[in-house]
Amino acid sequence: MTSDRPLEGKVAYVTGGARGQGRAHCVRLAQAGADIVTIDACGPVGNHIGYEPSTPEDLADTVRLVEDEGVKISAGRVDVRDHDGQKRVIASAIEQFGRLDVVVANAGVMSWGRAWEIPQEQWQEIIDVNLTGFFNTVQACVPAMIEAGNGGSIIAISSSAGIKAVPGAGHYCASKFGVVGLANSLALEVGEYGIRVNSVHTYGVDTALGNDLSMYSTFEKHPHYVYSFSPGALPTESLIAPNQVSEVVLFLASDASALLTAAQIPADKGYMKV
Ligand SMILES: NC(=O)c1ccc[n+]([C@@H]2O[C@H](COP(=O)([O-])OP(=O)(O)OC[C@H]3O[C@@H](n4cnc5c(N)ncnc54)[C@H](O)[C@@H]3O)[C@@H](O)[C@H]2O)c1
Repeated sequence: MTSDRPLEGKVAYVTGGARGQGRAHCVRLAQAGADIVTIDACGPVGNHIGYEPSTPEDLADTVRLVEDEGVKISAGRVDVRDHDGQKRVIASAIEQFGRLDVVVANAGVMSWGRAWEIPQEQWQEIIDVNLTGFFNTVQACVPAMIEAGNGGSIIAISSSAGIKAVPGAGHYCASKFGVVGLANSLALEVGEYGIRVNSVHTYGVDTALGNDLSMYSTFEKHPHYVYSFSPGALPTESLIAPNQVSEVVLFLASDASALLTAAQIPADKGYMKV
């Protein structure tokens, strides 16, 4: 292991790796020396999402970018809601690579609407992808990590909406607060195996989800909601670049964060404190 390749010889699993933050995490962890296993739905995952879905071509681009870093990658079109599908992916990763060290539970979706007005289906698709998807990732990965016996780091991509209230997105907040509850309980359960579990809380990242224009119809109807969205503490000229979040993910993936578990790590320019 060298300091610029702290994950040399390790294997990382990233969900939602076709584009956006998931792709940036795949590439950054690959630069740090890890072989990569990734999945993505590569298509529509719900009927109430106001931005374009990812494509198989997006996932192929991620594969190429990771291979350019000189490590191996195994990528598949699997939905995180597919419990058995994720188990199959991890079983085949263990067969191919022999270990699993880092898990980045990143796949997620967002939609807008007031809690008492959204269709039940809209609630369910957000909970199923963001919360049950993470649960399925945990069920697929933890037994394999314990069996491999190398400890490891599980990183749950929550949101500032997993700590701070967001009007017009109660269903999304419920899913992301839920991710924190599962991550922290899991941290207490897997600590004895040397596995750490932390959550990351981003705000306003420059991705398809972060540029979802459908949010403006909610703000037009309820203009006072904008007061819940603070400018943050650091100067903010634009949305956060996905690869800036990847630096936080790499820190949590590596031994540099050996003392951290059951922690909620902000990547939000101070937004949640303002
Ligand atoms: N962009 C932001 O401002 C922001 C802020 C806070 C948290 N987040 C969280 O960051 C994570 C990554 O989102 P992003 O900003 O990169 O958005 P994105 O839409 O660019 O990327 C999300 C990826 O996850 C995949 N995905 C979605 N549902 C899936 C499913 N059911 N199964 C498999 N793959 C699925 C998508 O196909 C896509 O490739 C999400 O969990 C999101 O909630 C984003």
